[in-house]
Amino acid sequence: MPNNPSSNEHTSATGILSHSFVLFGALGDLSLRKLMPALYQLEHAKLLSPELAIMAVARSAINTAELRLRVEHTLNQYIGADELDPSSLSGLLQRLHYCQVDLTQAQDYVALEKALTSWHPQVTYYLATPPSLYKDICQHLHTAGAINEHSRIVVEKPIGHDLASSKVINNALALYFEESQIFRIDHYLGKETVQNLIALRFANPLFENQWNNQYIDYVEISVAEDVGIEGRWGYFDQAGQMRDMVQNHLMQLLCLVAMDPPSKLDANSIRDEKVKVLRALKPIKEDAINNHLVLGQYTDGQFKQQPAPGYLNEPDANTNSDTETFIALRVEVSNWRWTGTPFYLRTGKRMESKVTEIIIHYKAHNHFIFNPDQAKLAKNTLVIRLQPSESIALQVLTKEQGIDTGMLLRRDPLQLNLAQTQTNVRIPDAYERLLLEAIKGNQSLFVRRDEVELSWQWCDQVRRSWQSGNKSLAPYPVGSTGPQEALDMIQMYGHHWYEDCDEN
Ligand code: BG6
Repeated sequence: MPNNPSSNEHTSATGILSHSFVLFGALGDLSLRKLMPALYQLEHAKLLSPELAIMAVARSAINTAELRLRVEHTLNQYIGADELDPSSLSGLLQRLHYCQVDLTQAQDYVALEKALTSWHPQVTYYLATPPSLYKDICQHLHTAGAINEHSRIVVEKPIGHDLASSKVINNALALYFEESQIFRIDHYLGKETVQNLIALRFANPLFENQWNNQYIDYVEISVAEDVGIEGRWGYFDQAGQMRDMVQNHLMQLLCLVAMDPPSKLDANSIRDEKVKVLRALKPIKEDAINNHLVLGQYTDGQFKQQPAPGYLNEPDANTNSDTETFIALRVEVSNWRWTGTPFYLRTGKRMESKVTEIIIHYKAHNHFIFNPDQAKLAKNTLVIRLQPSESIALQVLTKEQGIDTGMLLRRDPLQLNLAQTQTNVRIPDAYERLLLEAIKGNQSLFVRRDEVELSWQWCDQVRRSWQSGNKSLAPYPVGSTGPQEALDMIQMYGHHWYEDCDEN
């Protein structure tokens, strides 16, 4: 069981190890599919402190023994019975306790507070619940006396569906918690290669010295998914790709690529730099919508050689929906570093394959001394692949081998396959890292309020432009690379998506 704190060890919510973890929505999909397996992996890697105790909170009338059985069953399902290490499994199960709480009932929180009385007061509350419940949960925790200056709260997206609704959620959190106690998750920030972006950019002078509009022609950020909306019609149809993916994940990737070097690696130095990028985003006005934006929706097609229904033919579909399942944007960051170097963002559901890549397209030399027919080849491209396999590849030019090839050029990758370079290290799931950092109180992988709100402000403005400009939806079949219009848009500027580059 957790101990009492020693006097000066727990004076702030940040940077201090938390020994009590309370998981709201503990029997929901996110908890069972992602958080419990992540906690198991942390246990297995011996990264959890011996004192850490976990209180699972949900509405079901079960007890701790039943919870442990359910979690064991889940871990067998998601990790696989043969991969589970019995001692790590038992270690995790022993940490778990259960408290039945109807999240809307204030009196249930009194029982929760009582159950936590003997626990360590440095509590991390993780809300794996719909955001509509955040306010009630915070208020009831407060009334029950379960919040103190050591408490932390971890919340999931979506933080609202526009700027106004995100402010409502942020204001509700701010009534009970300081910003230094609030940990907003964007699970992309927990991905290994996303973290590696910081190392790649700021630890390698070779890249950072040329990371600007003098050397970089354009940047491409592509997040293609092969899955559809997976039974989440109610949510997704209200959201679309702009709110579901661009406002959070793609904006975070954009910020990490575009930001200036932080003076230090601490949370606020990094987040201050990201905020400057968000402030520099150029609005996309209504008259620029046609050459800066493509919206698409998938239609009947084929996936893995099987027929697959279009968005409007999915079960439970609203057949009149004009929600975008694909979006491509030309984004301009108006500052010294980036003016003149556009960022093309693209994300879609039900595409050919799942792949997330950031591609830096470098400029060509002004003067080309090789065979003019090969001039198009003479560009370097840095391909940072986040999924499905983590790798970094720099496309470089060399001479075709042989004595009769003259100075014929060829492009080949200098490739770093992260899974192969460090074979004895497992690449952790994003939630493992995020849970660990929340428990440690490190906010640098979490999104600050001003980031969320500036991102919404920009996305709202773009949505208003496309609504008033009556932007139409371009169809694309399931299993394709998206609508033709996305190719046309980027080609209008003499640029190409990576898969269409001649020099590939
Ligand atoms: C979630 C979105 O935030 O991210 C989903 O709500 C999307 O619609 C998912 O499928 C993608 O995450 P990942 O890690 O699979 O790229």
